[in-house]
Amino acid sequence: METAQFETDLSLFKYDNLEQLPPSYRELDEDERTERIEAALDELGDDVVILGHNYQRREIVEHADFIGDSYQLSKEAANADADYVIFGGVTFMAESADIITDDDQSVILPSMEASCPMAGMAEALQVDAAWAELTAATDENIIPITYMNSYADLKAFCAEQGGLVCTSSNAHKAFEYAFEKGDKVLFLPDKHLGENTAHRLDMADEIVEWDPWDPEGVTAEAATDNDIILWEGYCQVHERFTPEHIEQVRDDHPDANVVVHPECRREVVEAADVVGSTSTITETVANADPGETWAIGTEIHLTNHLSRWHPEVNVLPLCGDACMDCNAMRQIDPNYLAWVLEELVEGRERNVIEVAPEEKDLAQVALDRMLEI
Ligand code: 13P
Ligand code: SF4
Repeated sequence: METAQFETDLSLFKYDNLEQLPPSYRELDEDERTERIEAALDELGDDVVILGHNYQRREIVEHADFIGDSYQLSKEAANADADYVIFGGVTFMAESADIITDDDQSVILPSMEASCPMAGMAEALQVDAAWAELTAATDENIIPITYMNSYADLKAFCAEQGGLVCTSSNAHKAFEYAFEKGDKVLFLPDKHLGENTAHRLDMADEIVEWDPWDPEGVTAEAATDNDIILWEGYCQVHERFTPEHIEQVRDDHPDANVVVHPECRREVVEAADVVGSTSTITETVANADPGETWAIGTEIHLTNHLSRWHPEVNVLPLCGDACMDCNAMRQIDPNYLAWVLEELVEGRERNVIEVAPEEKDLAQVALDRMLEI
C-alpha cells in the first residue's frame, strides 16, 4: 500500500520558533506572578482577551475571560474585539482562533511547545496520498471531515474536498452534513471519536479503519466498501481509560455515575452513563444534585477544576491515582503567561500564531461550515 511507504516528517512541534522563557521568569512564585499578571492585564485593558481551555492549569483558567471546550472557545475567538487573543490551549486551537479572527488581531500561544500529538497524526501530505488511493478506488463521493484537533493545512484540504471541521460536541452533525452532500465519510484523525459518532448515528456496521502506517492494512478497495473510513489516530490521554477503571470506581463507590469524553475507546463509552465534550462534562457536574458522585473520564485538570468549582458534588477522577495529564496542555506554564503579557505591555508580541495565508481562507471555509451546522 503506497501510503505505508510514504515518508512523513511527523514533528512534535508544529511551529519551530520555540522561544525560551527568559531566566528571570523561571522562578517566579505564585503570589508575585499573579500580581504581575493582574498588573499587566490592568495595563492592557480591553486590548487583550484570554481564552482558557477546560484542560488548562488552575493558574491559567483563573485569569481567563472565557473557559470552555474547543467549540465554545472558537466561537469566543470569532466574537472577540480585542487586539490580542491569548490562547490557553494547544497549537491547533490557537491556529483556529487565528483563522477566525480579523487580520488585525493577533493570536498568542504562551508556549509554542503546546502541540497536541493527535493533531500530528494526520499530516496533510500523508492524507493527500491516502485520498488519492481512496478516491481512485470508488466512483462514490467521499467527504472528508477533520476533528478540530488537526492543523490548518488539513482543515484547508477538507474544505477543498467539500468537507468540514467538527469538534467533539458536533461530530454527529458534521457526519449528517457530509452524508447529505456525499456517500462516504473519511474521518480524521481520531478513530475513537469517529467510531463513537458512528454508533450514535446507528452506523456502526459501516466502519473501517484506515492505517496509513500499516503495509498489511486494508486496501483502498476494501476500505471504500464501507461508508465511514476512520483514520488511525487517537488521543494518548483518553485512550488510557479502560472499562476496568469504570468497574473499579463502581465497586469502590456503588452510587457513582460516570461521564467520559468521546475520545475514549468505544468500550469505555459503552460502560459510562454520560458521554460528551468537555463542556458537557462540566455541565453534567454543574447540574448534579448535592451529594451525587461523579467519576470523570477525561484530562485530570478538568476533574480538579470541577472538584473545586462544585464542592457539593463528590467529583472523582476515573482512574484513581494514575491520572491522565495532557502533556501538551501542560506546556502552557503560567510563567509564560506572565512573560507574554509583560512583553505586550512593552509593545513586543511574542509567540504569535500565524496560519499561512494560502491555507487560511480555505481552512476558514471548513470552520465556517462547522459554525453553521
Ligand atoms: P473538547 O472539544 O471537548 O474541549 O476537547 C478537546 C480536546 O482536546 C479533548 O482532548
Ligand atoms: Fe490532544 Fe489528547 Fe491533549 Fe486533547 S487531551 S489536546 S486530544 S493530547
